[in-house]
Amino acid sequence: MRDWAVADAKNRFSELITKALEEGPQRVTRRGRRVVVQAEGEAEITHPAPTGRVEYAGHIAQPAGALRVLLIIGGGIAAYKSLELIRLLKKSGIAVRAILTPAGAHFVTPLSVGALSEDKVYGDLFDLTDEAEMGHIELSRSADLVVVAPATADLMAKAANGIANDLASTALLATDKRVLMAPAMNVRMWAHPATQRNLRRLEADGVTIVGPDEGAMACGEFGPGRMAEPAQIRDAIIRLLSNAAGPLAGAHALVTAGPTVEPIDPVRFLSNRSSGKQGYAIARALAAAGARVTLVSGPVALAAPSSVDAVHVETAHEMLAACQAALPADVFVSVAAVADWRPETSAAEKIKKGQAARVIALTENPDILATLAKPGPKRPRLVIGFAAETEKLEAHARAKIAQKGCDWIVANDVSGDVMGGAENEVVLIRRDGEERWPRMGKDAVGARLATAIADALRARD
Ligand code: CTP
Repeated sequence: MRDWAVADAKNRFSELITKALEEGPQRVTRRGRRVVVQAEGEAEITHPAPTGRVEYAGHIAQPAGALRVLLIIGGGIAAYKSLELIRLLKKSGIAVRAILTPAGAHFVTPLSVGALSEDKVYGDLFDLTDEAEMGHIELSRSADLVVVAPATADLMAKAANGIANDLASTALLATDKRVLMAPAMNVRMWAHPATQRNLRRLEADGVTIVGPDEGAMACGEFGPGRMAEPAQIRDAIIRLLSNAAGPLAGAHALVTAGPTVEPIDPVRFLSNRSSGKQGYAIARALAAAGARVTLVSGPVALAAPSSVDAVHVETAHEMLAACQAALPADVFVSVAAVADWRPETSAAEKIKKGQAARVIALTENPDILATLAKPGPKRPRLVIGFAAETEKLEAHARAKIAQKGCDWIVANDVSGDVMGGAENEVVLIRRDGEERWPRMGKDAVGARLATAIADALRARD
């Protein structure tokens, strides 16, 4: 483990924990004026406690209008993955409130859960203060979705049989919301007829199950029982939440992402360096806000979020056809780096060295954004383009609004490490003004854009 300093974490406890988790499963606790970080089997490393805003204590308001998840963390080694899950949900703009079972607290601390969720962590049914502030009934109903991760054999058995003898099982019985469980247990416990019976009963009761995965387990055995990866659970959550009352519920969003690939012959092509990360983050954020999302993507190394309907294409022509087939849509976000040009001809067989012309004649590709922005009955109510520029950002972006007939342009400066990187710095340009957003993660850009889209569609209703 790298010996990073608290100063690296910008003096904030939650960032410190996030940073620790990015390096692998570790235990982060606070002991008096010291922060203690310990990876399994390694010595403790202590740092002075951060002096800045400490975010784990007390109630911190959740973003207004955000979808909310009540996360029940059961007792299993996979509980450390639930910390990563909280981080991913927060990055997608979803508020998280956690119940940490006493068994779960053996694996992760309330402090870590509270720091990442930025909310109070609930643990004991008979804590009278909590009951006065928020009873278990309200706790389970103030969320849009209840998630159990890890869902142990014990929690599954209680929920399947309606047993309510602690806070987690009581919340599960009292809720009127949908429930998602991510089981995690030893392979034999998973295969046991009792667990399989409970599983069938839970599914019949309408509980959604994600995982478990198959693989090497912490207990040394191999087989199904490993908790699904946090990103997979996040996508399942977003899919379920999109049926809930998010700010974009009922809207259809069409998003393009990634590069297009224009063949020269069966093995060679023209393309660009777009990674698809920003488009995928926007598609995921729109789904998290409740929209039905069609993501038309060029070839990228990313897995499509399971919360969207993904259509995979290669060329600009295919991308245009897939977009037109997906209409009508309420909003179109054109994030793809569409190749402006394609080879005039594409050889049916591989071109041999001797036959190669030294010059490739090019012809212009259709402009997908301009085509979909044309006035007409099928034009989406809001059409948003991206402008990747290396100079005169605002001026070029403004000119593009006029050229393409779109409503907004998200202008980004790609002169630095934006392409393929995790962060982006953008200016949102509307016909009547502009907003410069600070540099932030691509997920955060997605979440903020989804909020702006929801506000604009509401204003146009
Ligand atoms: N775009 C498109 N179809 C094309 C080219 C671009 O839909 N054939 C869209 C992109 O998805 C983006 C916007 O148009 O939303 C602007 O893309 P950009 O590459 O910045 O602009 P170009 O139109 O290609 O202009 P230039 O390369 O001259 O800057």
